Order: sequence, then structure tokens, then C-alpha cells
Amino acid sequence: MRLSIFGTGYVGLVTGACLAEVGHKVVCLDIDAAKIDRLNRGELPIWEPGLEAIVSRNVAEGRLEFTTDIARGVAHADIQFIAVGTPPDEDGSADLQYVLSVAESIAREMNTFKVVVNKSTVPVGTADKVRQRIEGILRERGVALTFDVVSNPEFLKEGAAVGDFLKPDRIIIGAGSENARKVMRELYEPFNRSHERTMFMDVRSAELTKYAANAMLATKISFMNELANLSERLGADIEEVRKGIGADPRIGYHFIYPGCGYGGSCFPKDVQALARIADDVGYEAELVKAVEAVNNRQKNVLFDKLASRFGGARALGGKVIAVWGLSFKPNTDDMREAPSRTLLESLWAVGAEVRAFDPVAMEEARRLYRSREAFFLASDKYSCLDGVDALCICTEWQAFRAPDFDEMQSRMRARVIIDGRNLYHPERLREMGWVYDSVGRPS
Ligand code: UGA
Repeated sequence: MRLSIFGTGYVGLVTGACLAEVGHKVVCLDIDAAKIDRLNRGELPIWEPGLEAIVSRNVAEGRLEFTTDIARGVAHADIQFIAVGTPPDEDGSADLQYVLSVAESIAREMNTFKVVVNKSTVPVGTADKVRQRIEGILRERGVALTFDVVSNPEFLKEGAAVGDFLKPDRIIIGAGSENARKVMRELYEPFNRSHERTMFMDVRSAELTKYAANAMLATKISFMNELANLSERLGADIEEVRKGIGADPRIGYHFIYPGCGYGGSCFPKDVQALARIADDVGYEAELVKAVEAVNNRQKNVLFDKLASRFGGARALGGKVIAVWGLSFKPNTDDMREAPSRTLLESLWAVGAEVRAFDPVAMEEARRLYRSREAFFLASDKYSCLDGVDALCICTEWQAFRAPDFDEMQSRMRARVIIDGRNLYHPERLREMGWVYDSVGRPS
């Protein structure tokens, strides 16, 4: 089948490359000409394991192309995906201007039936707005064309996006017409060969499913972080509690790891947006708001623990602190809403100096904090520790799981580790003479 995808960001690019990989003919569009040029030279704007190989193979085999030519993109296919960003507005609700402007572009250029598929994460009711926008333009043009609007939310995890797309748990399709359902079933047929993964539902339920999934996962994390903070005060060990509750299949082991807070481009934004969606219909989503509040508080735990080890925040002025891990989670260079940023900014605010290392997010850190003076990016995890007063760990990269503690000790001014991801065994570290604080465990 043929399809076009508007937006070559994370979602659009992964969707386009993976749908080409299963044999469809895909045109990816973006209004950013420089980005399209780079893609045409084989340079990807994001770091995602496995994506480069799929993009280059499918480009070489003629199933995937990149263009800024909207008329060409619209003419290429009956299926038009909208996969542009929905950044948060000032009040936390999703800004729909890019989604609606793509809808307009499609409406201006279309001359045959289209299925317009929304893949961006958008508030419930957006499909109706897209429909109205397209109807309005078609009316202006004085043409009577038919089209369907479908909601097909994505559930990709950064760092595992290619695998998630090619082997999905489920494919959610919100469609109002039999015709749209038929087209979408055919499009995703290659993913349903071993068993049926597609779930059809009404458009609004599909739109809400996306927020429900992310908010549920974020709730699990905030709940565990709350219990971790409580464990510290009660003298319990959250890691034991985690295993104890995870064994109940109704609870499960996934997404109950306590830490220094969730980050990324999805959970923080979607939890906030869901609260705004509820406000808009006059419902106070108390639990959803609490999930966000708990997470914002959790992002400060590393700094607070560090400060209390040094006798107060002010005592950190002039200290040199190492930070391992800058991305919001392993296997990505994405630092959006990363807990590391809250820590870095708090450290700078009290006059501390930071030496940081991340296996892949160094370029991103350089870009974000180019003008910072008290920020040194080290070339490896050990040289990051040269002369530092303490080490804080923000991301659980594999490379940090079994370090050479003797090497670390020989480089650091003091043996202090504040671990936001519970990577080490507290007793073992204490036996080796480290001051070791983690999350929700006895220190
Ligand atoms: C998330 C969802 O997992 C995807 O299903 C969804 O498609 C995506 O958002 C999206 O809306 O596009 P992602 O943001 O890539 O994916 O990251 P996750 O792997 O879900 O991790 C989110 C954050 O939660 C990270 O900061 C991670 O460190 C934290 N986390 C995760 C915990 O603190 N504890 C856990 O037990 C699990």
C-alpha cells in the first residue's frame, strides 16, 4: 500500500521507516527543508537503535522517500498520517496548531478520497476538529470529496521504538466508518500474521486510550516513588517491597521501579494534558494531578540527599559534583524533562560546579547548556570523577552498573555516591567505605 506521513520527528520517522520495512511505499514530509535535506543524505535527526539501518535500506530499495513537497505527498496515497508535534501550551494543554495546519494542507491539495490518520498524541475530540477543518477548506474550494479521520495512537518507547513498532502489543484504531476500518486493517495486516493485534474502537476511546496508558504507567511510578520516600522514613527497603508487590500478577513487576522521577517527552506532557482535558469538561482529575506533583517533588530528591550529606544546600557552593547519566532514561540521547536537568540546575543555583558524563547524550547536553560555565563534560565515566566531592547517578545506563570502585575512589576527593536509580547494593558499598544514599532504601 501507499501512505504519506507528515512530520519526520520521532514518531513520524519510526512509523514511516517501519511501515516501509514491511513493504509499503512511504513518503515522509516535513516543512523543515534542512531536516529533509539531512534525511536525504542519510543523516537521522534522532538517535534510536536500529533506525538508521532500516531507513537506509528502505530508501535504497525505493520504498521510503523524504520531501517537502506537500502536493506530491498528498497525491502519493489515500492514507495520510499526521505525526507532527503537540507541544504543551502555557497551561499544559496540547497545542494543536501543527496538527490542524497539516489537516489544512491535506484538504487544500486532495483530489480523491483520503483516510487521514492521526498519530500525534492529541486531546480527545481532536479528530472532530481535524474533520471540521478539512470540511471547511473543501467547502471553500467548492469541491465535494469524501474522507475519513482515524485515530491511531502510538505506544513506542524511546530506545526500543523500532522493536515496539515491528512487534506491537496492540494496534489501536479509532475509526467511525467501515471503509476506514478496512483500509487500516489492510495497512497493518503484516503485523497481525501470528495473531490479531489490532483493536478497533470509536475515535474518542482511541484518543483517550493513549493518555490512559501513559497516565497509568506514570501513576505506577509516582506511587512507587511515594512509597520509596515513605520507606526511608519508616526504615523499610523499597526494593524488597517492590519484589513483594510485583509478585502479585494483578500488580506485576513492570514500571514499579522507584527512582529520581520520570522524564521524557511523553509522561510529563501527557499527564499534564490529561489533567487539562479533564478541567475542560469540568472534572477535577485529582489523582492525575497528584501523579505530576509527586513526580516534580521526586526530581529534587538527589539534590536534597546530597545537600543533607554536606550539611545544607549552601554548603554545596564551590563543591565539584560528578553526574553520571544525563538522558531521561538509558538508550536515548533525549534530555527532555530529564531528572538530571533538575539536579544540574539546582547545583548551579547554589554555586556548585558539575562534571558530567553520559554514554550518548553529551552532544545534547552541550547544545542545551552551551553557555554554562560551571559545566564540564568528561570524556569517560572515570575521568568525570577527577577531584569531585561526590557522584550523583541520574540514569541507569548499563555502563554504570558494575564500575571499578577502586578506580573511582582513586579519582574522587571523597567517597560519596547519591544514586537515583538504586544500582548498587547498599551494604556492599558501605563495607567498601562509601557513603551511599539511594532511593527508598536504608542508608
Ligand atoms: C512512554 C511509554 O512507555 C510509551 O509506551 C509511549 O508510547 C511513549 O511514552 C509516548 O507517549 O510516546 P518513553 O517516554 O520513551 O515511553 O519512556 P519510558 O520507557 O516509558 O520511561 C519514561 C520514564 O519513566 C523514564 O524517565 C524512566 O526512567 C521512568 N521509569 C520507568 C521509572 O522511573 N520507573 C519505572 O519503573 C519505569
